[in-house]
Amino acid sequence: MKNSLKIAICGATGLVGRTMLKCLDDYSVPIDKIVLYGSSKSAGSEIHFRGEANIVKELTIDNIDPDLDYALFSAGGGPSKIFAPEFAKRGVIAIDNSSAWRMNPECPLVVPEVNPDALKKHANIIANPNCSTIQMTLPLKALEDKFGLERVLVSTYQSVSGAGQKGVDKLNHEMNGVKDEALSKMPIFENTLFHSFNDDSGYTEEEVKMINETRKILSLPELRISATCVRLPIIGGHAESVNVRLKRDFDIAEIKETLAKFPNIIIMDDDKNEGYPTVKHSEGRDEVFVGRIRRDESAPNSLHLWVVSDNLRKGAAANAVQILVKMEEMK
Ligand SMILES: NC(=O)c1ccc[n+]([C@@H]2O[C@H](COP(=O)([O-])OP(=O)(O)OC[C@H]3O[C@@H](n4cnc5c(N)ncnc54)[C@H](OP(=O)(O)O)[C@@H]3O)[C@@H](O)[C@H]2O)c1
Repeated sequence: MKNSLKIAICGATGLVGRTMLKCLDDYSVPIDKIVLYGSSKSAGSEIHFRGEANIVKELTIDNIDPDLDYALFSAGGGPSKIFAPEFAKRGVIAIDNSSAWRMNPECPLVVPEVNPDALKKHANIIANPNCSTIQMTLPLKALEDKFGLERVLVSTYQSVSGAGQKGVDKLNHEMNGVKDEALSKMPIFENTLFHSFNDDSGYTEEEVKMINETRKILSLPELRISATCVRLPIIGGHAESVNVRLKRDFDIAEIKETLAKFPNIIIMDDDKNEGYPTVKHSEGRDEVFVGRIRRDESAPNSLHLWVVSDNLRKGAAANAVQILVKMEEMK
């Protein structure tokens, strides 16, 4: 990347915001100005980046710095709805991690390995997909291009960090015998929970996101896809069992070859020697790990995949930084 950039992080004190700072460094993004925003709660606190202390500012209209190239948002849907358009109208490109803008037809919803061309047309707000959605779209895109997707069924095994700091705190409190009713009145420790149910459809909010966002990213509005999303007592990393029915028959070697060729997919398929992906393999990594690749004999042209990724990196912060890098490369 040639140009030195001016970047803001809105939600810099959160799990994703802190990981964004790490990713900007890991991707060697040239930066000559960094502005860090949080809520009134963390305003005035200090965050170190590249050896310098930065004071967190409260995110308010009056505090918006218009002299920026990008504002990376990880402050939740409410602040994104209010502030992303304010940055956008000042000429700053907002890359937003919340669900506020994902299904807006004016906003590209982007996984750089999958649909980078969507970045060619935008109105200064780019949406980063949901963490569970991002990791699944890499193998699905590879399979769609070569075989065509007929139907997708996914079940997730998601960590508590996907719900932010309060999710991590809940698990830690409960492991120490302290009651914590964040996310649910029920415990997550030694338990399984679903995400929130916002309507009478029978689907959780997370399941609806996975369905709608996958269709948008793959430009397959009619894709037959369904999801069951489950939260587990794991700190970091999301795993998914993905069952795919393809438009034509295949042999498994061809599937493995197709997936292995796709950027940032790592195949781990030595099952007998415990060489399958776990969330521990994905920790701190930006690739998507795929294993348990096998034919599903119960239906024609069908297969099972096990898809694992670091939800805070590829599922959020790294994907946002990769979008920024891609936009600079496309200039
Ligand atoms: N965790 C994941 O795996 C993941 C994946 C994909 C997308 N996301 C999305 O990313 C966003 C952040 O998630 P997270 O996991 O980082 O949550 P988190 O750890 O709870 O952090 C939330 C951040 O938002 C800030 N914030 C809250 N209200 C604000 C306001 N009114 N104005 C300015 N800043 C405000 C907080 O600042 P204070 O410290 O001052 O309160 C904090 O920095 C959410 O929209 C989430 O859905 C998360």
